[in-house]
Amino acid sequence: MARAVIVSGGGTGIGRSVAARFTQAGDHVVIIGRRAAVLEAVAHSLEGPGAVTWFSADLADPSDVDRVAAQLPDVVDVVVNNAGGYASRGMPWRGPADIARALTTDFTNNVLSAVLLTAALSPRLRRPGGRIITISSIAGVRGGVGPYGAYASAKSALLGWSHGLATELGPDGITVNLVAPGYIAETDFFAGTMTSHRHQELVAQTLVGRAGRPDDVAAAVEYLASAEAGFVTGQMLHVNGGALMGR
Ligand SMILES: NC(=O)c1ccc[n+]([C@@H]2O[C@H](COP(=O)([O-])OP(=O)(O)OC[C@H]3O[C@@H](n4cnc5c(N)ncnc54)[C@H](OP(=O)(O)O)[C@@H]3O)[C@@H](O)[C@H]2O)c1
Repeated sequence: MARAVIVSGGGTGIGRSVAARFTQAGDHVVIIGRRAAVLEAVAHSLEGPGAVTWFSADLADPSDVDRVAAQLPDVVDVVVNNAGGYASRGMPWRGPADIARALTTDFTNNVLSAVLLTAALSPRLRRPGGRIITISSIAGVRGGVGPYGAYASAKSALLGWSHGLATELGPDGITVNLVAPGYIAETDFFAGTMTSHRHQELVAQTLVGRAGRPDDVAAAVEYLASAEAGFVTGQMLHVNGGALMGR
């Protein structure tokens, strides 16, 4: 049976690969992001027995979430909270006003987007069998300083929220998990800032000697969304090539 799968940030990088996997599995996939042209192009390009539809929305904006949620299926099988990123990159970090701006930016894009979408959809998640999967980051566990600390703390906040939701929804047969990617190339995450020196540094941190690919993360999401993963909840699955072990 085709599942209804909602993928936030499904127009680029990891989210696009997640959408591709579910489309190939024959599911009805909805991708959401802010840029309509990006989403439309991806919806046309993804191949498989499934179907892809798209909605443009800022998922950190409650009225946008309400508008989109009203058009989403009545029963949802899988929510993938992938939208986000390091939007405070390069912001100044000199005093309270700067710090407040950077923290607000990263919490808005990473935390608010996941919490608002999930709150709108959780009443219609399939019971039992629904799945909520949120993309955190290696940064949320390893930490960071300066504006990167704003991003790291936002990704860390997703852990406490997700674990609480796992407790709340477990009795309904819904699992709630996180995937924490390490360095994943072929995404828009680095917004043109990646240098070959930094790339080599990040690859050297891994035990397997390569950068991650969006499909490495998508494969983990596909597993957590599967029926076979019904006994896995309240977990964070690290996909980082061994750059951070066992936490
Ligand atoms: N790449 C890495 O190395 C890495 C590592 C650890 C974690 N992650 C996490 O993985 C997730 C996917 O990132 P990516 O690496 O695939 O980078 P990406 O290509 O920049 O994807 C991020 C997506 O999120 C969407 N988005 C951001 N804010 C949004 C909002 N407020 N409302 C709706 N959509 C929003 C963006 O689309 P629009 O701009 O069109 O809205 C974009 O499609 C992010 O949560 C990121 O923090 C990435």
